[in-house]
Amino acid sequence: MKIIYTEKISSTNDYLKKLKKVTEDTAIIAKKQTGGRGTKGRSFICEEGGVYLSLLKLYPCSASQSFSIMENSALAVVKTLKSFGVEAGIKWPNDIIVNGKKICGILIENVFEGDEVARSVIGIGLNVNNPIANEIKGIAISTKEVLGTKLDEKTVASTILYHLYLPSRHEEYEKRLLFLGEEVTVITEKSTYKAIIDKVLPNGNLQLKDGTVLSSAEVSIR
Ligand code: BTN
Repeated sequence: MKIIYTEKISSTNDYLKKLKKVTEDTAIIAKKQTGGRGTKGRSFICEEGGVYLSLLKLYPCSASQSFSIMENSALAVVKTLKSFGVEAGIKWPNDIIVNGKKICGILIENVFEGDEVARSVIGIGLNVNNPIANEIKGIAISTKEVLGTKLDEKTVASTILYHLYLPSRHEEYEKRLLFLGEEVTVITEKSTYKAIIDKVLPNGNLQLKDGTVLSSAEVSIR
């Protein structure tokens, strides 16, 4: 596996997506991103001091198991945080939450070939020593705030990469899931409503108590 370090880049996900003739898994770790991207076309604030990395995995799994990439990535971050003394939960599908606030966002971009995921770009943005902008202080948190001390960003990044190669199970993901059995706000393109979460199915869909099944592409929860 190849690991690239860079001071500044637009987006680590974009860098890996543009690579041609990749013959081995490749990771890129950036000190700063100027065009960090989030899910659903949103931008992602990337101040210096955070951990911004992407990993390009070649042929990680079959297409039918693609949600396992999300589960594994979320658990890799949760386990990394735990190893540094920070207890975290997962907000479906893969936001990482500490003390009710988001500490990490994950953007996964897959390329499918037939029944296989031919490439998966797993992008992780974790608030470590970076300052949290005033406008998002109520909803975002960093490890520095939780621990009251700084962590070495390269060590955190390599710990995440290590965990991304460990196997994980759906049951572990379920154990870390927040809001199960609780009322949340479901937001779709057309409407916003309150519902109780029943479970997350192994294919990644969210099942509500009334039996409705939703995919993360269609909805978000709050
Ligand atoms: C989200 O919460 O919406 C997902 C945020 C993902 C951010 C990471 S930072 C590293 C990688 N490069 C990007 O441009 N985005 C991901």
